[in-house]
Amino acid sequence: MAPNIVWHDHKVTRAERADLKNQDPCLLWFTGFSGSGKSTVANALDVALHREGYHTFLLDGDNVRHGLNRDLGFSDEDRVENIRRIGEVSKLFADAGMIVLSAFISPFASDRRLVRNMLPSGEFIEVFMDTPLEVCEERDPKGLYQRARKGEIKHFTGIDSPYERPAHPEIILDTSTLSVDDCVENLIAYLRERNMIKPRR
Ligand code: ADX
Repeated sequence: MAPNIVWHDHKVTRAERADLKNQDPCLLWFTGFSGSGKSTVANALDVALHREGYHTFLLDGDNVRHGLNRDLGFSDEDRVENIRRIGEVSKLFADAGMIVLSAFISPFASDRRLVRNMLPSGEFIEVFMDTPLEVCEERDPKGLYQRARKGEIKHFTGIDSPYERPAHPEIILDTSTLSVDDCVENLIAYLRERNMIKPRR
């Protein structure tokens, strides 16, 4: 951090911002292999919550890498920086009172922990998309696994770059056995049980 920088407290608190929206701020962090269903489920949840009048925002790997993180590749070092920046952006949206949905492979446990620790306890909800690699590779929606197997793409997660499974995720979903609607129902139930989304006033 540069010297001579002083933190300013905001006059409107994050709780006041969230209260206006009838929800608690939180970050649903979708992690898992490419093709595991992170973006699909996050998008479907986004639609479902938005329809019910909640304020959400969706961040996902492919899109953020077109803009904010266009300077980053897939080396271990770049992935760490990718997740650090996304964590900071997600935190800002949570501070704005939003329900944030972030869908990134985020293969390293230490990076996910870093983001967890950026937020007040209970607000970071780790959603592990535990779809088996074979299923993700079979789906291969972008043809990237095939290219990685041929050696045309290096450092591909699950092929020649590691994925560290979450040890204690809040939610585990496997889209090889659950439909997208089932996944969304599970996630909404989690938020309702904890009163993070409230009935409309
Ligand atoms: S992360 O590992 O740094 O969290 P992120 O979620 O931002 O990854 O980006 C993953 C997306 O980038 C994948 O869905 C895929 O479309 C694309 N991609 C391109 N190259 C790679 C690679 N080497 N490993 C994984 N995904 C890649």
